[in-house]
Amino acid sequence: MQLITSCRELVHWRRSCRAPVHFVPTMGALHHGHRRLIERAGLGPTAASAPQVVVSVFVNPLQFAPGEDFDCYPASLSLDAALAAAAGAALLFAPSVAELYPSGVEELFQLQVPKALQAVLCGRSRPGHFNGVATVVARLLGLVRPDRLLLGEKDWQQLVILRRLVSELGLPVAVQGCATVRDSDGLATSSRNSYLQAEQRSLALALPRILAAMRRRFEAGEAALASHNLVAETRQRLESAGLMVDYVELVQAATLLPLAAPHGVSLLAAAVFCGPARLIDHTVLMASAPIVAIDGPAGAGKSTVTRAFARRLGLIYLDTGAMYRAVTWWVLSQGGDPAAADAVAPLLENLDLRLSHGPEGEQLVSINGHEVSSAIRSPEVTAQVSVVAAHSCVRQALTRQQQAMGERGGLVAEGRDIGTAVFPAADLKVFLTATVAERARRRALDLERQGFAVPPLDELEAQIAERDHRDASREQSPLLMADDAVELVSDGLGIEAVIQALVDLFRERVPEEAWPDPAA
Ligand code: PAJ
Repeated sequence: MQLITSCRELVHWRRSCRAPVHFVPTMGALHHGHRRLIERAGLGPTAASAPQVVVSVFVNPLQFAPGEDFDCYPASLSLDAALAAAAGAALLFAPSVAELYPSGVEELFQLQVPKALQAVLCGRSRPGHFNGVATVVARLLGLVRPDRLLLGEKDWQQLVILRRLVSELGLPVAVQGCATVRDSDGLATSSRNSYLQAEQRSLALALPRILAAMRRRFEAGEAALASHNLVAETRQRLESAGLMVDYVELVQAATLLPLAAPHGVSLLAAAVFCGPARLIDHTVLMASAPIVAIDGPAGAGKSTVTRAFARRLGLIYLDTGAMYRAVTWWVLSQGGDPAAADAVAPLLENLDLRLSHGPEGEQLVSINGHEVSSAIRSPEVTAQVSVVAAHSCVRQALTRQQQAMGERGGLVAEGRDIGTAVFPAADLKVFLTATVAERARRRALDLERQGFAVPPLDELEAQIAERDHRDASREQSPLLMADDAVELVSDGLGIEAVIQALVDLFRERVPEEAWPDPAA
């Protein structure tokens, strides 16, 4: 591992680096939490492209208020270098204040974090703190120019603010949060834990313990907690445990908007003073396991990426497209006219439609006792599926089946109206699309791979455009992007990049702490 202290050397190193760069900014006094971030940064989204990990150590004066611990913040560059190297960092960047802010702290361009993001949690008790964080991280991003920025979920407000910064300034970097690392006694590791004497440390343990206890009570469904009481009781219990409370607040995780009662993915967060240290921690409240809805036009690659996304995050894949295809296959095999609702409706009675997994994890589909996993991919079924799916009786029958499958959550579904009709309260809604030309190109490749005849591209394009029109203009559940959906256009992106973009969107809403990554 190289240790660099000047910006010039860093820029030089960056120019010659060909691998993806993953960046972990810190203020030093590195501990297990930092170590985990550095190790995760080295894993990269795919094993194929081993990233180079850059770690920075810089105690940023801009984010400390007068009277805070800037002057005595723990420093140990040689220990930090040893830990970063052992965790797999390629480069440690440790500039001085004069090196990073050559025009001085007074004469510096500074970023201003939006009011709403600063008016809650730590922003309220540490005015100006997040402006300082945003300013230094923007400066560091400009120097390191990483492909991926890794931050701890422990500082959730910082993570949300830096995600907004990256997205609003359009910086070309992906942001990844990593679950809070705790010592075996439950206390979140922090450089500031070194300020604690032994008895203060045992007092501090009340913070994670009480937050976890409140979460368990919420999960056990105690109705009285779903209100202002949740915050009041947490505060009262922390005070009874001998901690001086700075704040206890309940906010929406993704936006930090204050909440009167838990809703969706909520954060119950607290800061306390314990002896000389100010400690922060939070817990995530989630009434049910997360649901992800992925909608979009035919041929946008939804099923391939959704399946992989489900596997990556340990979610169940609810393949609604396969369900509609199976019904279409059934109608055709019974000699029914796919266009005639009164011919289709009787075929839906006592429908026995099953999705399961084969020995290799592949999806199996059966309908009324027939194994149809490959048959539903034939061109005959493909040609008729949107005709069959347009009947209200078909959509109602399948929507009921899907909603029943979704009651326990923990799943991802893809289709045309998942976010609007099937799971309107989904935690993440994505509208995955691609241009007609791109989809025609992919369809041709697909047909060729499966050994079917490949029509000319312009014919495929016309078919796709025609199908888009039919799907968007039909009366029953037309293809629509939900108001709160994120549009993801996959032109020019490989499958892995689309999956990673979905994982990143999911993680903006659902912290790892609440829904751990099965591979982590
Ligand atoms: P620092 O407190 O050193 O933290 C550096 C990174 O480590 C942050 O992303 C933080 O969230 C993460 N981290 C700290 N403790 C952790 C834990 N127990 N588990 C998981 N991650 C943890 O945060 C800062 O420095 C600064 O504000 C910085 C972003 C470097 C800007 O100056």
